[in-house]
Amino acid sequence: MASSSRPGLVLLGGILLMNAPSAGMTQQLPSADEPIESRVASLLDRMTLEEKIGQMIQVNFPGEIGPDLRAAIEAGGLGSLLNVVDARTANEIQAIVTEGSRLGIPLLLGRDVIHGFRTVLPIPLGQAASFNPELVERGARVAALEAAAAGVNWTFAPMIDVSRDPRWGRIAESFGEDPWLTSRLAVAMVNGFQGGDLAAAGTIAATAKHFAGYGASEAGRDYNTTNIPENELRNVYLPPFKAAVNAGVVSLMASFSDIDGVPASGNRFLMQDILRGEWGFDGLVVSDWVSIEQLIDHGFAADLREAAFKAADAGINMEMVSRAYADHLADLLRDGEISLARIDELVAGILRAKFRLGLFENPYTDPSELPEIANPEHLAVAREAALQSLVLLRNERGALPLDVDDLGSIAVIGPMADDPYEQLGTWVFDGDPSLSRTPLQAIRDMVGDRVRIRYERGLETTRSRNTEGFVAALQAVAEADAVIAFLGEESILSGEAHSRADIDLPGSQVELLHALSEAGKPVIAVILAGRPLTVQNILDQVDALIFAWHPGTMGGPAIADALFGVESPSGKLPVTFPKVVGQIPIYYAHKNTGKPATPETYVHLDDLPVRAVQSAHGMTSHHLDAGYTPLFPFGFGLSYAHFSFADMELSAAVIGMEDTLTVEAVLTNNSDIAADEVVQLYVRDLVGDVTRPVRELRGVQRLRLDARESRTVTFELDAADLAFYGQDMTLITEPGQFHVWIGGSSDTDLRAEFTLVGD
Ligand code: NOJ
Repeated sequence: MASSSRPGLVLLGGILLMNAPSAGMTQQLPSADEPIESRVASLLDRMTLEEKIGQMIQVNFPGEIGPDLRAAIEAGGLGSLLNVVDARTANEIQAIVTEGSRLGIPLLLGRDVIHGFRTVLPIPLGQAASFNPELVERGARVAALEAAAAGVNWTFAPMIDVSRDPRWGRIAESFGEDPWLTSRLAVAMVNGFQGGDLAAAGTIAATAKHFAGYGASEAGRDYNTTNIPENELRNVYLPPFKAAVNAGVVSLMASFSDIDGVPASGNRFLMQDILRGEWGFDGLVVSDWVSIEQLIDHGFAADLREAAFKAADAGINMEMVSRAYADHLADLLRDGEISLARIDELVAGILRAKFRLGLFENPYTDPSELPEIANPEHLAVAREAALQSLVLLRNERGALPLDVDDLGSIAVIGPMADDPYEQLGTWVFDGDPSLSRTPLQAIRDMVGDRVRIRYERGLETTRSRNTEGFVAALQAVAEADAVIAFLGEESILSGEAHSRADIDLPGSQVELLHALSEAGKPVIAVILAGRPLTVQNILDQVDALIFAWHPGTMGGPAIADALFGVESPSGKLPVTFPKVVGQIPIYYAHKNTGKPATPETYVHLDDLPVRAVQSAHGMTSHHLDAGYTPLFPFGFGLSYAHFSFADMELSAAVIGMEDTLTVEAVLTNNSDIAADEVVQLYVRDLVGDVTRPVRELRGVQRLRLDARESRTVTFELDAADLAFYGQDMTLITEPGQFHVWIGGSSDTDLRAEFTLVGD
């Protein structure tokens, strides 16, 4: 171990570490034994205005610590950097600020650690398909450990925008359409990143984003405007954020979008009235990238100065990348437009985050204290997450699982079969494709020399329209006993700013699949994609279909395990799959309307009599050409086992406001294999102060049942589970009648009823 020239610092394994606080710092910083609030107050007392504004500035790391960056850090002119991803640089930066600046306030080092770091887990939408908060928490833990080893102490995740539009590229980063599921997974991810002790090595601060309503971007076009009535905002879009705040999330990020005419980065109602006022959040809100400056583009601020005013007034503590705060906050204060108390409040939120993270005690990273990145345990978590994310959408005549003993040869076809990069999905700055295990590799490993594998891409990429490769693909199929086609979307077709208006399989993939199916061999399709796709046009061409999302580093082995029956697929859709894009938005928790569609009232346009009287058919809420049901409902997913539900029972037919209702049903595995089933509980409030969804998820249990096992599944419901925001925007639980369902999908028909009576 070599000492550096600076007192109090040592070089460990080439990485600069703090040995003990320097004499100067010990005198200056409030003692670690004091409560955070008094440490914040005494630090604020000693800060100059420039130092306060400095805390509110986040800049993108330019790749090296040049003289300008060093000077800014030494002057106390920065609160945070984003995109520093090696421990040596991170430690050097923390040393410069803690040793070289007047007050030594350590920096937040932020990074988009969205679904893993070096070890890439399935995209969040895929993780949501596991319906398994415990697994999502473990995945975030893996990501936190790996990111922390690179000096990152703050991630911009989880993204918990309720997302009901599969055209939106960022649906990939979300947990799907349901507020309740998103809330559960939000808490799980926050806990995974932040751990029990934020100051411990290997925990990092989480960010609940994007506050709020970003998922409702019109037409699913990224950054587009949103219009969400307050009642829907409170009942649908805000609950995951409230859950994250209650779970102790360190920070929130403002959305790029405007909502009801007010961009989030200047939205007092969201940031002040709801977040601070109603929820009591006292942490840090960071803008999105240049989103304060973009208040000008929105036409909400005339210039950067007004943008700075509106953002600070609304309650954005830290500005990401643009310079409105740096250039204008001091003038706004001088001119009496912003008060010092306001600036102090905003800086306090940042300091609290830093104290909570224990950065003042130890801002440094010692990777040797942390597990090796991409170690076998981390890869095992990624594999489990990928496996539980696989959704079996079709399985005709038991086409799956494949039996190695029945097959002489298999044709593996498609642009997603052996592409280590594309299976990782969006937001994988730190992922390493060389770690990826592709489906082709995993199938080869699985079957060894027992089955001959012939692989042909068929198409160069998922977008290719050059069909020259079909010839070789069809030759491979001609010699095979079965076909496995790996299709979907490359990573770049989803994620930020990558929305699509047509969500069919892109390029000539549909033609490829049709050509493959004409050979008359069993065709198994596995789709790797960042969003739901409209797959109606291929369904009758395939014997089986697995939707694998972008499954991450260990996608291949997980898929091979499912294909060959080592484990049954057990994922469920966290978002509704439409038949056609024109049905969007389509989600299970819709309102009933005054004219709900029924099978009796629906007539397809092909069957409408010519010159029929307008009112003779239907007059209910449906599309003439697509009906009123989706292709696959929320919560749907098949299994190789055959599960059934029966004998639903409630503990009471009538309950009071203080009571707990027990809801039970018997789940039976009628097959000869053990498998997981995701049991779901839905409720409906029949009459409300505002119209209520036809079903709402209120319980989930992932259970493993042995072959032929039956088990009683028990859920508990209380008045809080039935609460909603009424016309006056307060949370209420109304007496009245309720329906409750249990099943393996949102379209289950196993139902019971109960009445809630007032006190
Ligand atoms: C923009 C994205 O909207 C946000 O989610 C991300 O965290 C920031 N860029 C930082 O990269």
